[in-house]
Amino acid sequence: MLGAPVLEGRDLTRYYAISRGAFKPSATVKALNGVSFSLHSGRTLAVVGESGCGKSTLARLVTMIEDPTSGDLLIDGQPAHVGDRSLRSLVQIVFQNPYGSLNPRQKVGTILDEPLRINTKDDAATRRAKVEEMMRKVGLRPEHYDRYPHMFSGGQRQRIAIARALMLRPKVLVLDEPVSALDLSIQAQVLNLLMDLQKEMGLAYLFISHGLSVVRHIADDIMVMYLGRPVETGTSEAVFANPQHPYTAALLSATPIANPQGRRQRIALQGELPSPLKPPSGCPFNPRCWRATDECRQIMPALSGDVAQQFACYHPLGDKPPSPPSE
Ligand SMILES: Nc1ncnc2c1ncn2[C@@H]1O[C@H](COP(=O)(O)OP(=O)(O)OP(=O)(O)O)[C@@H](O)[C@H]1O
Ligand SMILES: [Mg+2]
Repeated sequence: MLGAPVLEGRDLTRYYAISRGAFKPSATVKALNGVSFSLHSGRTLAVVGESGCGKSTLARLVTMIEDPTSGDLLIDGQPAHVGDRSLRSLVQIVFQNPYGSLNPRQKVGTILDEPLRINTKDDAATRRAKVEEMMRKVGLRPEHYDRYPHMFSGGQRQRIAIARALMLRPKVLVLDEPVSALDLSIQAQVLNLLMDLQKEMGLAYLFISHGLSVVRHIADDIMVMYLGRPVETGTSEAVFANPQHPYTAALLSATPIANPQGRRQRIALQGELPSPLKPPSGCPFNPRCWRATDECRQIMPALSGDVAQQFACYHPLGDKPPSPPSE
């Protein structure tokens, strides 16, 4: 049994009002629109979707940088809001860009010491020991303590960012495209490190990614998002083996690793991603979907399915391989 989730979102929404100039009424971007999930210790939930689908917005909500417009966030079973200091240290984040996220004027040791100095009563010797232990855990050497971020490669910088995120022993790590700025060979090393740390420390990961290939080995569960909404969720096995939403199938067909024998036809998505300022009526994916019918253009489908897999689609793919317009 999994026990209680360490992180839970219940129908989370986040709207932004944006001004469109002095003489136009302001518009509302529905960046996140009804997202529910639960994440348990030692598990990884991958949140996957194209640019602008709301992944980083979700990251800002779960790290308590912003409150949701509506819906509830629970951390370790407790309702969480911006400013809740006790819960905040439980969820930490690692960003995509290892070049922008570390202060270039601070030495590695100082960067890693800072969370302890600010949030704990540990004395200098205790802090130093904790920093050195964490450096070892992430594969940095003791002599790196006195070096500056610019002296490191992208992969090593990401190790520093991971170490910093872990200094306060969080239960959840939000990884916002943590390897997409790195070379392929380095990506695998950092993913392996993350999997080792997860096992050792019992961490829960919310792993954000544009594509499915990166999360194939690390994810236990997958949530595919489109224009601020989850369109398919489920265990990694179920989603990879049998995607039900046409959008998931399209993302998967663009994944070389998922398609070793070229058995799956590559699905060419028609049209552009619609503006979140003016989402289409009905299913948000309908203008690009080769299976769309009138129903899809009128009424938004709700998520349905079983525990292993849920999808918001009137025409799920079933067992049949998709027969879309291919490239
Ligand atoms: N502070 C804000 N004010 C107005 N609109 C915003 C704000 N933050 C995000 N948005 C809009 O909300 C939508 C979702 O943005 P978000 O950054 O969450 O997407 P994303 O999935 O992380 O994209 P990417 O893959 O490019 O990082 C986008 O349309 C974005 O323009
Ligand atoms: Mg983002």
